[in-house]
Amino acid sequence: MTDPAIASPEIGDAERRRVREVLDSGHLADGEEVRAFEDEFADFCGAERGVATSNGTTALHAAFEALDIGPGDTVVTTPFSFVASANAIRHAGAEPVFADVDPATYNLDPASVERVLDDRDDVAAILAVHLYGLPADVDALAALADDYGIALVEDAAQAHGAEYRGERVGSLGDAACFSFYPTKNMTTGEGGMVTTDRADVEAGLRRFVNHGRDSAGYEHVSVGHNFRMTNLAAAIGRAQLERLPGFVAARRENAAALTEALADAPVETPVEPPERRHSYHQYTVACRDREAVVSRLEDAGVGYGVYYPTPIHEQPAYAGVDADAPRASAAADSVLSLPVHPALDPGDVERIADAVRGEVVVDA
Ligand SMILES: Cc1ncc(COP(=O)(O)O)c(C=O)c1O
Repeated sequence: MTDPAIASPEIGDAERRRVREVLDSGHLADGEEVRAFEDEFADFCGAERGVATSNGTTALHAAFEALDIGPGDTVVTTPFSFVASANAIRHAGAEPVFADVDPATYNLDPASVERVLDDRDDVAAILAVHLYGLPADVDALAALADDYGIALVEDAAQAHGAEYRGERVGSLGDAACFSFYPTKNMTTGEGGMVTTDRADVEAGLRRFVNHGRDSAGYEHVSVGHNFRMTNLAAAIGRAQLERLPGFVAARRENAAALTEALADAPVETPVEPPERRHSYHQYTVACRDREAVVSRLEDAGVGYGVYYPTPIHEQPAYAGVDADAPRASAAADSVLSLPVHPALDPGDVERIADAVRGEVVVDA
């Protein structure tokens, strides 16, 4: 039995076959395979349109550009996320402003967002991160976006297949951004996608990811980037998308087993509020004494991760940015993510739980 790692991408025969087909076709860069993946992924999310990108960061950057968010604007978001969420706002020329999180879900607290919206008149969008695969409080955030006449963007980089009131993330705001990095619930190696129901946003995205090109010709109406996905990546993505419901089901089963096995452990297990379906990109517990749990996991050879040890507003690159987020800082001191991916071996859940509790089983 191998030690359970924190992440383990599942690449099988279908992915290999489809990549070989693209290699044999000679059409390696952007093309038909990408168009098919965009349609299939948007369809999966219940969105009208999908535009593939080179990664999740470029998906976010392109979404802000397509929504015409830039210099002079701010975007209110959570500081308890991967730094890419904030970096993309800056890449678009805007500035992030940080609201606090709900300590139970680690997602944006709508009351804290509302305070920011009351205080400032330069906020152009809310960026709601579905952290660890748990959808944010979308109804409350969408109502605020409506009331204040601003956009709602989903950072769904960690939440493929998660649901809110029976609807998949990716269909809940003006635009939603995904990452297909290998640790995610599905992968293309590197890759990203923006989903949207808005034709104007799709047009803006297609222009921006392809050097501002507005037509099949060589007319460049604005300055864009090369953020395109390759057919090779899309081929992997199409095979992974077919397996995604199974991956999410396996993650949910592993999460349920972990929660049961950790009932008497010195940690708080993840919550799943009614109407939200967690996709368990991460299974994250709150520890009273994280160092002690980490040292027991290391002794037992169990993989783990701390996402994220430093909230974005405490990162040097964001010094001086408007932030009122003490609960995000507290969360950063206690969270610990345990393996929950579909490749866990039978017996891994008990082994992980034993290590968290301090009952380390040493192989004879
Ligand atoms: C919440 C969040 N947003 C954005 C990103 C950026 O995605 P990528 O690494 O594909 O650029 C990630 C990826 O790790 C993420 O976790």
